[in-house]
Amino acid sequence: MQYRSGNEIREQFLRFFESKQHRRVASSSLVPANDPTLLFTNAGMNQFKDLFTGAEKREYTRATTSQKCVRAGGKHNDLENVGFTRRHHTFFEMLGNFSFGDYFKREAIQYAWELVTSPEWFGIPKDKLYVTIFEGAPDYGVPRDDEAEQFWIETGVPRERIFEFGLKDNFWQMGETGPCGPCSEIFYDMGIEASSYGPGVRDRDRPFGEDDARYVEIWNLVFMQFDRAAIVEGGKTTGYSLTPLPKPSIDTGMGLERVAAVLQGKISNFETDLFTPLITRAAELTGTEDKVSNASLRIIADHARAATFLISDGVLPTNEGRGYVLRKIMRRAIRHGRELGTESPFLYQMVSAVRDEMLKAYPALAADADRVAKVIHGEEVQFARTLSMGLAELEDELEAVATAWERACEIISDRESKYDEGYTEAQFDEAQALVDGGKILSGARAFHLYETFGLPVDFMVDAARDAGVAFDEAGFEAARAEEQARARASWKGGAAKTASPAFRDLPKTDFLGYSQFVANSAEVLAIVKDGVGVPAAKAGDSVDVVLDRTSFYGDSGGQIGDTGRFTSPDGNLTVAEITGCVLPVQGVRAHKAVLKQDLAVGDHVNTVVDGVRRNAIKRNHTGTHLLHAALRQVLGTHVKQAGSLVDPTRLRFDFSHFAQVADEELEEIESIVNREVLGNTAVQTMVDVPIDVAVNEYHAMALFGEKYGDKVRVVKIGDFSTELCGGTHTGATGEIGLIKIVGEGSVSSGVRRLEAISGTGALDEFRRDFSVAQLAAQVAPPSNGSDLSGSLRGKLADHEEELKKLRRELDELRMKSASGNLDAALASAVEVSGVKVATLRADGLERGQLRTLVDNLKQRLGEGVVVLGSVQPEGKVAIIAGVTPGLTKRIQAGKLVGAVAKLVGGSGGGKPEIAEAGGKDQSQLGAALEAVPGIVKEFLG
Ligand code: ALA
Repeated sequence: MQYRSGNEIREQFLRFFESKQHRRVASSSLVPANDPTLLFTNAGMNQFKDLFTGAEKREYTRATTSQKCVRAGGKHNDLENVGFTRRHHTFFEMLGNFSFGDYFKREAIQYAWELVTSPEWFGIPKDKLYVTIFEGAPDYGVPRDDEAEQFWIETGVPRERIFEFGLKDNFWQMGETGPCGPCSEIFYDMGIEASSYGPGVRDRDRPFGEDDARYVEIWNLVFMQFDRAAIVEGGKTTGYSLTPLPKPSIDTGMGLERVAAVLQGKISNFETDLFTPLITRAAELTGTEDKVSNASLRIIADHARAATFLISDGVLPTNEGRGYVLRKIMRRAIRHGRELGTESPFLYQMVSAVRDEMLKAYPALAADADRVAKVIHGEEVQFARTLSMGLAELEDELEAVATAWERACEIISDRESKYDEGYTEAQFDEAQALVDGGKILSGARAFHLYETFGLPVDFMVDAARDAGVAFDEAGFEAARAEEQARARASWKGGAAKTASPAFRDLPKTDFLGYSQFVANSAEVLAIVKDGVGVPAAKAGDSVDVVLDRTSFYGDSGGQIGDTGRFTSPDGNLTVAEITGCVLPVQGVRAHKAVLKQDLAVGDHVNTVVDGVRRNAIKRNHTGTHLLHAALRQVLGTHVKQAGSLVDPTRLRFDFSHFAQVADEELEEIESIVNREVLGNTAVQTMVDVPIDVAVNEYHAMALFGEKYGDKVRVVKIGDFSTELCGGTHTGATGEIGLIKIVGEGSVSSGVRRLEAISGTGALDEFRRDFSVAQLAAQVAPPSNGSDLSGSLRGKLADHEEELKKLRRELDELRMKSASGNLDAALASAVEVSGVKVATLRADGLERGQLRTLVDNLKQRLGEGVVVLGSVQPEGKVAIIAGVTPGLTKRIQAGKLVGAVAKLVGGSGGGKPEIAEAGGKDQSQLGAALEAVPGIVKEFLG
């Protein structure tokens, strides 16, 4: 076989299928568009999912791609294996050819065999290849794939090289639901050198069919025949159904890294030219000599690719969902750098190496590499910091464990005197349990450190061992499992309902709303009630209505859908109130309707959009484009949109940025956008622009996670802003009136959010501010030379000062009056078993003041017991007890205060001479103080 580089192999694959009339389609983003069931794009077919089910149509029926994929998290998860095997990756490229109801098994098999074996193409010797077919699974409702076998034989594969396997190997499905079908795989024999058993002791020539790493699957041809759907009964999934697809289709996947290993005569993917430059760079950066047998270098190379592509596609490190997986990948790489002795940031320097290798196939990397490197550098710095913080925290934690244990030992061994100090039985039990259990770092605490600081588990186990503390592994695993369940739940929370089948097979709705608020005589094509298509519905029903055309914009691209009404074709009768409009399937607009009249499929209506609301939305949408462009001018071109929301009241714009946006920057951004508004530039829209023209010639900004067709709509505001956008916009910027930024904050690490208002919203805000300013001017009229805010601040400061002074005076007065009551308390002191007992109530005093009073009373009593009660300003009850030193053998303040506190629903304790307690029930305070002599009597016995 002739050597060729990874880049050449990719190109050859795509060119082969182009020669077979396939459309070369660009890889879609790693963040699946409109598919919340999927964490990351994990196969070439993801972007075509709706084409297989027939929910979407394109102008081509054959396609070929080289698709970026990540399998880390979700159904296909390889993260922990990566680096220790020859073929696992977090990021990889999947080459594929697709037929959407065009050719089926026969051609798919012929194409595959030609590409793989023809000397003009890959030229792999036939005697090194095996193929597999599906053996059938009657329980599953799928028969043996005799057809595939027949076609392989026809194509020239000897019968003895065809093997059959079951559901696990030869039936492919993307997830629990969706398009699926039996598959055939092509395997390559790498020879006995690649056997997982040899060469060496257990060296044996194992035939194909036995589980041996020498046989490498290079291509999977999936014959998409079914749509798998959940059967839901009473809100629970009780099983799955397989429905034949309207038109059987083809989905194939060839791992580029594997086929490169084959064509370059290497056993491991990591030895191909797709990885060797990256491994060399990783070795340079970490000062590592041994490049061959070092798993850490492979991990760094692999993870650098994943991190680069994920960040380039808009993912940022966070603590949940996609961002969490990215963070885990980066931290795993950084940790392996540390294992090689590199403590300072290095991973970010891998980005340019990844870019240089992949630039040809993924040109977007050229513009993104700097930003990606910055994000990685930020994560490295933060990880180093959290690691050192985490270690300090861990040491504190271990010390606390040791101290708690020693204290417990002390309590148990010195029971007698602890009892005298007022320790309760429950406290003794607790101490005993601690002593019995030994010094343990609790799993929950350890997991907290692991989560918060990313402290690796083995770090913690080692540190605990050094401190003589056991590590609660079971508790840690339990905490981790709980967290994973939580994360899954939060992920599921993001999953939108998949479209009801009732919306499939409907033609795209003709959208007339760019230029008009009203569409006349639209035909009702479908009425969907509770997810099911119905021929007609009654007045009063809430239904989704699909028409052949409409003036209603449907929720998309961050812009909220229109509201309004349907009227009869003559315009006289309101047929339905429309509370919103969405796109359950691309291009199909469903109106959320509350019917005022009966409605049937085939009826005609006029659609009337609430124009005032739509105009407000338009202003905010055009305002968003201006803001986006101004942000990039002021903060830098690393700013990328990370989500937006445009509704009639405001606009919200999330974007990638590392720091808080300073007030001066906000002011500058605001000035720039309003300058554009005042310039009254025309807003130009261009439709049916080929995507590459839009991006490469107009430099239109494309957004992550958005799905664009081949032809796009471009919205251009002079030379200031150009974006791909399907939204509705003002005719010129002047219509916006005024843009005011009203909020700036953080959404997650590295993502900031701006909120702004425009048009009438800005006017309302201005009116509110104006009336507040008028009120302020009345309260604090500015004197000569000061402005309103100065005079208001001055006024507030004066009031604050005054308040402080009054509080001080009040305290003094209270203390004075309480001290006056001391005489009365002394006079009413009673004798209990020869001990003087005085009680006093003094509300509103602080604890410090109460203690002073107790000391005074004790002093004046000479020898005796004192109990003071007070209702605190916030309504709680405070009780302080004092016992003079000569009496503490007979009665202890700690126990006494506890007994009194019980009467006001509280508890407390302390030293034998003075102790404090708190309570909740102030209505019982008087009675509690009256009960004191009786309680003292019981203690004295
Ligand atoms: N979608 C198929 C796979 O991922 C080709 O293997």
